[in-house]
Amino acid sequence: MKTSDRNRVIAHISDLHCGHPHFVPEMLDLAIEEVNALNPDVVVVSGDLTGFGFLPDYELAREYVDKITCEHVVTIPGNHDARNVGYLHFEDLFGPRNRVLHVDGMTIVAVDSSEPDLNEGCVGRGRYGWIRKQFSHPADLRIFVLHHHLVPIPRTGRERSMVTDSGDVLELLTECGVDIVLSGHKHVPYAWQLEEMFVINAGTVSTTRLRGRVKPSYNIIETTPNLITIDQKIPGGERERVISFDPASREYRKYISDASGWAPPVDNVRTVDHDGAGIGTGGGQGVSDAAAAASSTSGDDTES
Ligand SMILES: [Fe+2]
Ligand SMILES: [Fe+2]
Repeated sequence: MKTSDRNRVIAHISDLHCGHPHFVPEMLDLAIEEVNALNPDVVVVSGDLTGFGFLPDYELAREYVDKITCEHVVTIPGNHDARNVGYLHFEDLFGPRNRVLHVDGMTIVAVDSSEPDLNEGCVGRGRYGWIRKQFSHPADLRIFVLHHHLVPIPRTGRERSMVTDSGDVLELLTECGVDIVLSGHKHVPYAWQLEEMFVINAGTVSTTRLRGRVKPSYNIIETTPNLITIDQKIPGGERERVISFDPASREYRKYISDASGWAPPVDNVRTVDHDGAGIGTGGGQGVSDAAAAASSTSGDDTES
């Protein structure tokens, strides 16, 4: 990866969920105000714009996205937007569901990973050639955007609704020399390094659909010739580093934050030893959780 001579700012917001009962309009207003003040080069909106994919949800989302003053806004749908044939409203109000942007030495390829009325995502082999072609364009920073997570995100509970062809997509993206992958969906900010690539997840920017101690947030990516940083910003609150890396060597540093809910889980392991029955630990709880999950026939209300 060559490094650009100029500094760039990319704001990454996700999971707005306009129209959902847990949508907090004031939070989205605050976030957009802050994003506009940053004067970013690009704003990425990585899906779940709506609560249910209904037209009024979409109209509300369109109103909010219109408040973003940045010239380059890259918007794709998420699983919630593909519900109730909502992908048609997306096309009417936001345009194509797959986007490419070449600007300032950056190539940003954003794809719709949603499937109608399913929570899990898929990129699909039919699009691999197209993605490869877009990334063959000369660029010093290659960014791939999709709604669903390509790799598991810690502290999000039972793993589900990942991209069903994630292994093939990861291989494709590393072959294409992608530097950064941006996703949402799990409502938990996180960062992984995979070979030469950094896989970054954003939180939900404007809902209270939160897991554990995590707060609503969006991400700010800043690139300089010697350092790329990714911070999470709580609307109206703290800004904290998620990860930073050297674009040449790929050396990186990840950060742990109390405020964002990234602190290690409380150690609630209880040791019990009675009558030689062995040592009971947190693992016992895990077994009963798994058994309960396996026997449960109730609907899944934890989708993102
Ligand atoms: Fe989602
Ligand atoms: Fe979501």
